[in-house]
Amino acid sequence: MPVYLDNNATTPLDPRVLEAMLPYLQDVYGNPSSVHRYGRLTGGAVERAREQVAALVGAQSGQIVFTSGGTEANNLAVKGVTADYASGHIAVSAIEHPSLLEPALALQAQGWEVDRIPVTTRGIVDCAALAAILRPDTVLVSAMLANNETGAIQPVAEVAGLVRSGRAVLHTDASQAAGKIPVDFVGSGVHLMTLSSHKLYGPLGAGALIVDKSISLQAMQLGGGHENGLRAGTPNVAAIVGFGAAAELARAELVQRTAHTRALQVRLEAALRAIPEVCIFAEDVERLPNTVQFGVRGCHGETLLLQLDRQGFAVSSGSACHSDVHEASHVLLAMQVDNELALTAIRVSVGKDSTEDEVDRFVSALGAILTMLRGSSVRVANL
Ligand SMILES: Cc1ncc(COP(=O)(O)O)c(C=O)c1O
Repeated sequence: MPVYLDNNATTPLDPRVLEAMLPYLQDVYGNPSSVHRYGRLTGGAVERAREQVAALVGAQSGQIVFTSGGTEANNLAVKGVTADYASGHIAVSAIEHPSLLEPALALQAQGWEVDRIPVTTRGIVDCAALAAILRPDTVLVSAMLANNETGAIQPVAEVAGLVRSGRAVLHTDASQAAGKIPVDFVGSGVHLMTLSSHKLYGPLGAGALIVDKSISLQAMQLGGGHENGLRAGTPNVAAIVGFGAAAELARAELVQRTAHTRALQVRLEAALRAIPEVCIFAEDVERLPNTVQFGVRGCHGETLLLQLDRQGFAVSSGSACHSDVHEASHVLLAMQVDNELALTAIRVSVGKDSTEDEVDRFVSALGAILTMLRGSSVRVANL
């Protein structure tokens, strides 16, 4: 199998998580809403997962609303907060994931005023610009905790300091941050936080919106009143159990995972810096320990990606969630990276099980491909 270096797109399911899920795909069944013993068994498992997920991010279990993933949680945040109003003003950072930007654009089409909070050339939300954007009638502000492409960690506490003096609701998308860096729902000062299970070695199809009950949030999916009336639908018990198990493992192993991935990041970047024309994006800011996004001037990212795939390395160009669209990354453009350089972007995201050998082999393959593409010799660090 190819070397997997695309852990920001999705992570492999941890075998311990699979083990926790299996009973709920086999022998243990029952609708968690049912009052009989079957229902109590699965309902109890969902509640335990709620506690495990809450514990990972310093929230209370009653604040967790399980969803089908980060996309649904982001949609619920944007649509659920603004549903109380016919129109108004919201501000979202320019580097949000499409699952946050698209619902914001949909509001704009309905007559809402939507400001994009600019980022600095280093990929960090510009708080001075946000201060100028905020208005007395701002209903929602959304700024992610860590960017999925560059890995840049955002100043959410500072954003909270600005937003909380007004009446706007503050949302942060922590899909990429949770499990990679310490995340504190209460301490961060946000009202809403998005999580995604499959970014932290849990199964696909589970996520959460964490909700501070002091705010008004309308459900987008109506039905039997599940999840405190905020997300109707019989819960995906096995996936939620897996999400809970993955969250517990992430909490227990956070320090170790961070140290391991950080060491690989340092190793990879040292080697990349030795390759002429390589530019590491958001290089000098605090970033997730596992993420390196870089470009090589003159080498189209998609071409490089396909060559790397042929050589047995799975990475991403920009954001994997829309990798079939060959446009420059909106994140890099927001950082004022020129279009030509932005089109060269490759994202490497290592995982808890990645190895030094995999990183070294990746760098060698990259060097050989660049040599081939340029028709000239490229020096690659001798690791
Ligand atoms: C920052 C961010 N938010 C949201 C999502 C979407 O999450 P999901 O795949 O669980 O819908 C992603 C996925 O790439 C992401 O990186």
